[in-house]
Parts: sequence; structure tokens; C-alpha cells
Amino acid sequence: MKSFIPWIGGKSLLAKKIAAEFPNDLGRYIEVFGGGASVLFSSEKYAKIEVYNDANGDLVNLFRCIKYHREELQKEIRYYLNSREMFGDIRQKLSCMGFTDIQRAAMFYVIVKTSFGGDARSYGCFSREIKTDNFADIEKRISSVEIEHKDFEKLIKQYDRPDALFYCDPPYHTTEDNYSERFSEADHYRLNGVLTALKGRFILSYNDDDFVRGLYKDFNIQAISRKNNLSSGQFK
Ligand SMILES: C[S@@+](CC[C@H](N)C(=O)[O-])C[C@H]1O[C@@H](n2cnc3c(N)ncnc32)[C@H](O)[C@@H]1O
Repeated sequence: MKSFIPWIGGKSLLAKKIAAEFPNDLGRYIEVFGGGASVLFSSEKYAKIEVYNDANGDLVNLFRCIKYHREELQKEIRYYLNSREMFGDIRQKLSCMGFTDIQRAAMFYVIVKTSFGGDARSYGCFSREIKTDNFADIEKRISSVEIEHKDFEKLIKQYDRPDALFYCDPPYHTTEDNYSERFSEADHYRLNGVLTALKGRFILSYNDDDFVRGLYKDFNIQAISRKNNLSSGQFK
């Protein structure tokens, strides 16, 4: 199954390759920088305990609304059109308070789906309808997934056990501004510190640059090429 949203840095093209590296004795699987959760959706189940997490509150609210209020969310989305004007209106509204969780989730879904590359910032100019027919399958897949909204360090420390696998796909080094949540150079070091002290295991996706290679020089690194010729590394 594919994710229901496009997301910057989403791993839909690499999901199967990444999952092929997972050990098969997992007690818990934790997607730390969840985004569109392409890796989670690429399998029916990885472990008895599964966790999705992201620091972006609107994104987490969308996942929670599909999990708990799927039909109401679908009804709410029906009222939206794919148009530049509506896109601009929603962008403004999302910066205001006073909406219900379902209203916010519907607006967020619409701007992610109609934006360029899922960036939720620039209108994508595609004439396609805003569909929700895959929501029932998405609801089923995440029905037993714990959905968290935490900074990565707190989340990792909370779920760390010897039988845990953390899949980490942080904002790439030097392209951190693509996301609404600030991620600094210090956060890359902080992530390295937390992963180095783990009781469980981790797989980490990153862009291939000298800074990242230096930070993870003591780990097993596999270089993977993607179709767009950018390369990214996996660290275990
Ligand atoms: C590269 S994207 C993840 C893409 C995801 N693997 C997919 O397939 O769609 C990185 C994500 O990290 C999230 N993020 C940024 N800072 C974070 C933090 N401090 N803790 C947890 N998540 C964070 C962003 O909101 C973004 O969704």
C-alpha cells in the first residue's frame, strides 16, 4: 500500500529497499520522523507494537483524524475544490485558531494534496480531483499504530528497548528549511547522540555529504541511488 499523501523527502520509491533491511525479530517498530509514512504503509505489519511520530502538529492531527474520525473527515473534505483561490484561503485559515480537529485535518489534507510536491506552500496547478477513496484502507492499516507528536529525542528514549527498531528519516542536512518545524545543525548532533546510546537498533536515511558521513563514520553505511540521481545513505 502507498501513502495517502505526497510528502517532501517521502520514501515511496525506496520503501521496499529500506524495509528489506529490517530484522525479522522485531518486538516494536517506531517511525520517528513519520512524514507521509511511506515505509510504514509499504508493509501490512512490522511488529506487534508500531509507532508513527512527527513534530508537525497538523500532520499528526490528520493521521489521528483518519484513525478515529475517518468518515467525518471524508465528509468535510467533500466541500473543497482544487483551485488556487481555495488553496490561498486555506493557507491563511490554517494560521488561525478556532477550528475543530476534523476541519483542520481536512484543510491540511487539501493543501498537501494540491500543492507542488506536497510542500503545502505552493499551489501545484494540477486539475485532478481531491480523492479520499483510499481512506478506509489507511484507517485499517493505522488502526493499531500508536500516533505520537513528540520531538525525536523524547520519543526514542520513551520507546527504546532491545527488541525495538527505529526507522529515522530526519530532514536532510542543509535542506532542513523544507519543513515547518525547525531542525538545526545541533539537532543533527543531538540525533547522533541519542542513536549512539540506543539499546535497540536503528536504520537511518540521510543525504550523502561529508558532514553526515563524518557523524556516522563508526556505523555501517550503504549508499543507494535514486531515480532522480540524488544519492542517499542508509546507516545501521
Ligand atoms: C524526510 S521527512 C520524513 C519523510 C517520511 N519518511 C516519508 O516517507 O514521508 C522528515 C520529517 O521529520 C519531521 N521532523 C522535523 N523535526 C522533527 C523533530 N524534532 N522530531 C520529530 N520529527 C521531526 C518533519 O516534520 C518531517 O515530516
